[in-house]
Amino acid sequence: MKILLTGGAGYIGSHTAVELASAGYEVVIADNFSNSSPVVIDRLETITGKRFPLYEINVADKAALEKVFEENKIDAVIHFAGFKSVGESVKVPLSYYRNNIDTTLSLMEVMDKFGCKNLIFSSSATVYGKRASLPYREDMETGPCTNPYGWTKLFIEQIITDHAKADPDFSAVLLRYFNPVGAHESGLIGEDPKDIPNNLVPYIARVAVGTLPYLSVFGNDYPTKDGTGIRDYIHVTDLAKGHTAAVNFAKNHKGTEIINLGTGNGTSVLEMVKAYSAASGKDIPYKIAPRREGDIAECYADATKAMELLGWKTDLSVDDMCRDSWNWQSKNPNGYK
Ligand code: UFG
Repeated sequence: MKILLTGGAGYIGSHTAVELASAGYEVVIADNFSNSSPVVIDRLETITGKRFPLYEINVADKAALEKVFEENKIDAVIHFAGFKSVGESVKVPLSYYRNNIDTTLSLMEVMDKFGCKNLIFSSSATVYGKRASLPYREDMETGPCTNPYGWTKLFIEQIITDHAKADPDFSAVLLRYFNPVGAHESGLIGEDPKDIPNNLVPYIARVAVGTLPYLSVFGNDYPTKDGTGIRDYIHVTDLAKGHTAAVNFAKNHKGTEIINLGTGNGTSVLEMVKAYSAASGKDIPYKIAPRREGDIAECYADATKAMELLGWKTDLSVDDMCRDSWNWQSKNPNGYK
């Protein structure tokens, strides 16, 4: 089976390419490297021994995308391509709506033209509304989202659901990720934020490696065990394996399924700082700062549906996530540059 990964050179896409290849799937990558690097393709070859066919295209460009489908019999698509910075999306919402929604519409129209009926979409736990109660279950209410990035995920979920309703042969799996962190055990691929990281673990990694002086802990007055925010961190390798499980599942499935990919466990900011410090052997200086706008106290998954439908659960611990993040960060202090 041949699987097209849009955004396949990105953080989650590249780790998924490794897992799909090791499960015996053929992988084709479409990426314009807007937030990734061509070096990833070489690194993937080192890890897997395979040179994945690469199309350096914007997925919104239908003519370019049609060429991918003309040259390959694509059985399923995993759609990772998209802008993903929460803060940036607040500053340039039109660019987020244009990019994330255009790429999805172009992709789905081209899939339709070529009779490709199998789509797996990178969604996010960010779609759960403020009224949803913990742990988040897939049948809970969604929205309102706190930022345009989150809305693009929710709108795209709706677009895909409507299409699957109209085409009874269509299979859609909407994967709601919790907080992916860590890196491949080889240290050859990992997360490489363009600027100063917004997310906790990449930020801590830069403090540990010495390129940033200290971490700002956004709030220590939340109603949580130590007052800091709690999230469901998931090792990117476990997350990638969740995609392989979703591809296996989708072969014999029609209609839309929404599935959380998380561990079901919550970790606080201060617990993560402690675990990272232990994994890296480095001191992680931090200062308590005001709460970050839009943040919630706690977020973690109910992971039972993934087990029931996909037979998938996470294996790796927070210590594993920190060890592998540090392995990547220390071997690649400047990312892919
Ligand atoms: N945090 C800090 N200091 C930092 C960065 C983060 O204290 O410098 C705290 C946050 O306040 C929060 C926790 O660390 O409590 C995690 O923050 P992240 O920015 O790493 O992750 P978020 O949960 O805010 O957001 C992530 C993704 C989104 C996605 C969301 C889904 O970045 O894309 O999870 O729940 F939508």
